[in-house]
Order: sequence, then structure tokens, then C-alpha cells
Amino acid sequence: MDDMDGLEVTECTRCPELVDSRSRIVDGTGPADADLLFVGEGPGQQEDEQGEPFVGRSGSILDEKLDARGLARQDVRITNCVRCRPPENRDPKSQELDNCFPYLQREIEQVDPDVIVTLGKVPSEHLLDRDVAVTTEAGSLAQADLGGAVRDVLICVHPAATLYDRSQEETLDAALDKAAGMVSGGGAGGQSRLGDY
Ligand code: URA
Repeated sequence: MDDMDGLEVTECTRCPELVDSRSRIVDGTGPADADLLFVGEGPGQQEDEQGEPFVGRSGSILDEKLDARGLARQDVRITNCVRCRPPENRDPKSQELDNCFPYLQREIEQVDPDVIVTLGKVPSEHLLDRDVAVTTEAGSLAQADLGGAVRDVLICVHPAATLYDRSQEETLDAALDKAAGMVSGGGAGGQSRLGDY
């Protein structure tokens, strides 16, 4: 892909509205061979400013939840369905999701994670290509053909959902317990990859 160098999208003008609304392209972060790949919807204001996914309030929640499971942000890969901030934080349009999909597919193929965790409705529906009732399906494992292989996809609520509805915290916790338990070195009794050094 001409406009992708390794895991970085070097330039892209596929979505005219997003080209106008973004300050920069926000690529995924974390190890290129991570066992866990988290996929969110798209960058918000903080992410657009800092050039890194999940660095705002949702990111603090995610960091805290990872930490509670013996994982650090540096141990996992975090990316989004679209790499440019939509105007006024609207949901990405389906054409925009489609335009960005080859980059995500390439990232999945290269990282080859043990499990993909979809954070919220947009990434869950996008990657599974069906309607998903995230709050009831959170914690369930699905399979999808992504990045050249059939992959395990764990449906999860978006971390920000816990800000609006405290009952979502249990749902988020249960899904993340399951995700951590699915990767070697993570989960109950496991260790952070960084803890090995
Ligand atoms: N929400 C997302 O879905 N992605 C981010 O990067 C930040 C917040």
C-alpha cells in the first residue's frame, strides 16, 4: 500500500470531510507484535491533538483497567476504525469506515494478535459486519475474517460508556477480564510482558 509505511499511514486524502477536520492522522500505538489489539471508533479531540489513540478520558479509563489486570498500555496495541477525527466527534460515516478499512486490515495482518477487542458499537459492528447490541453482547467472543485470517473478536463496551452509566463498569470489567485471560502473560495470576524484564 503506497500510503502506508509499516504500521503508519503516511498520508491519506480518501475522506474529504475528515481531511478538513483532522490536525493529523492518528495511527495505532503499541508493539507491532502485540497479543491484544484494542480497536476503538476514531480519534477525539485529545487524540487528534496528541496523535495517539485513547489519550483522553476514555484512555485514562482504559489505562486504569489494563493496569488492574497486570497490563500496561505499552503491552497492548491500540488503534481505531478511522484514523482521522470526525467533525464535532460525530460517528464515522460508513464510507469513511470503508475508506480506512484497508489500513486496519493491514495492521491486523501485521500485528497478528491473539484477540481483537472491539471497544463500543461502531468497531464491533464494523469488524463483525452485523448489528451488535454491545451492552448485552459484551464479553462474548465472535470470529471474523480479518487481516487474512479468521480471528477471535471479543465484543466490549466503550470505556466512556462507564462515565454515563456506572452499571457499564461491571460489563467492561468482565469483558476485559476475559480478554486478559485469553492472552499469554495476562489475566488473573499472569504477568505484564514488561514485568518479565
Ligand atoms: N474513543 C475512541 O473510540 N477512540 C479514541 O482514540 C478515543 C476515544
